[in-house]
Amino acid sequence: MKHLYSLSLKTFSAMTLAVCCFSAQAEVDADAAKDFAKQNNCFRCHGVDKDKDGPSFTKSAAKFKADPKGEEKLLKHLSSGEKAKFPDGHEEPHMIVKSDDPKEVKNLVDWILSL
Ligand code: HEC
Repeated sequence: MKHLYSLSLKTFSAMTLAVCCFSAQAEVDADAAKDFAKQNNCFRCHGVDKDKDGPSFTKSAAKFKADPKGEEKLLKHLSSGEKAKFPDGHEEPHMIVKSDDPKEVKNLVDWILSL
């Protein structure tokens, strides 16, 4: 009985490990991210490679990729209405992403970071 118990504990930890590490490396769904960005009008002010009123997403990726807190910072950027400085010098709160699903916002951020 003791033997059985330790075996199942081992199996259990192996499963937990598999679930944890698989989901941590979940693939970015680029199409969903782009659709979501379109719905939120992100592309009105950001190009993928082109600066508009805001920096291109490729530029933001370069800035945040190396930062271990990059994902966290971008999530905050899109949820808190931080001040955004426009090229003409005026400032206004950055738009806040509307979504009932935090995974959708995370997927968008991960897509930007993957560029
Ligand atoms: C009305 C125009 C506008 C819209 C719409 C907009 N942004 Fe921005 N965004 C800006 C501006 C301007 C900045 C520059 C902020 C600064 O440098 O102070 C910015 C900055 C950013 C940055 C860089 C943040 C940083 O700290 O470097 C990211 C990433 C970003 N926006 C993502 C998005 C996403 C994703 C969306 C759609 C959900 C979006 N933006 C919608 C204008 C906009």
